[in-house]
Amino acid sequence: MPISVKDLTYTYNPGTPFETRALDGISLTINDGEFVGIIGHTGSGKSTFIQHLNALIKPTSGQVLVDGEDINESKEKAALRMRVGLVFQYPEYQLFEETVLKDVSFGPKNMGLSEEEATQSAKWALEKVGLGERYYGRSPFELSGGQKRRCAVAGVLAMHPEVLILDEPAAGLDPVGRREILDIIRAIHSEGTTVIMVSHSMDDVARLCERVIVLEKGKVALDGSCAEVFGQVEKLSAMGLTLPQAALLRDRLNKRGFDLPESIYTIEALSQALTEKLKTR
Ligand SMILES: Nc1ncnc2c1ncn2[C@@H]1O[C@H](COP(=O)(O)OP(=O)(O)O)[C@@H](O)[C@H]1O
Ligand SMILES: [Mg+2]
Repeated sequence: MPISVKDLTYTYNPGTPFETRALDGISLTINDGEFVGIIGHTGSGKSTFIQHLNALIKPTSGQVLVDGEDINESKEKAALRMRVGLVFQYPEYQLFEETVLKDVSFGPKNMGLSEEEATQSAKWALEKVGLGERYYGRSPFELSGGQKRRCAVAGVLAMHPEVLILDEPAAGLDPVGRREILDIIRAIHSEGTTVIMVSHSMDDVARLCERVIVLEKGKVALDGSCAEVFGQVEKLSAMGLTLPQAALLRDRLNKRGFDLPESIYTIEALSQALTEKLKTR
């Protein structure tokens, strides 16, 4: 189920002194099975953009096509929206039921599943995020930060979306919590779900994503494979963005006369290229 946006523009508070053009003519397509990272400076429009993809926000102009249909005009809008699951930044604020199981069952119940089916789906989703039976009766508010985040992800997964969108899923977590949530996202992608992840961590994006979209002032500044995007050192630094650690090191080594390919952005590729170079010295 591809998602296309065509000439998408969004303005907050139009016609007031607070008018802000958050998105400015974005056109792109996200295809089935992709793992896309969205990066960009704070205020570049990342959150506004992803909220369009499941019609939480309606474009000021332009279109969002989900499976070829304009999601905002479709008679099947509610059904289309459910196929695109969105996990907000700080999703723990979304938790509200008394127990973990009830919380995660809420979405599927809302989709019209019976109590039993909804519970089934919730249990399946909780399993996926590593919250087993002993968590079912716990209050979501008693969970650790990382567990709350995983519970919120389960709440969206329980609706079996074909596309999963996450806004800064690892932000604010400790290293263990980060790794856990990112491993879960990677596993969900490997089972066939399209994943779109907003992140300010270039290393997380480099490790997980296949394609990177860089937003700047509401426009697409770069869009390509990790190798293509993280090779654009000058452009990224002009936008105030850093490189993944390995790409940064590659760039520094090149400034000292190593002649390493610009396409290197992972530690593995860097160490392999360096080993080759040192062998031939
Ligand atoms: N609810 C809002 N009301 C008014 N302006 C907003 C609102 N949310 C975001 N903006 C503005 O829209 C622009 C894009 O914001 P946002 O999509 O949150 O960017 P990002 O997620 O990349 O930090 C910014 O200039 C921001 O100040
Ligand atoms: Mg944001």
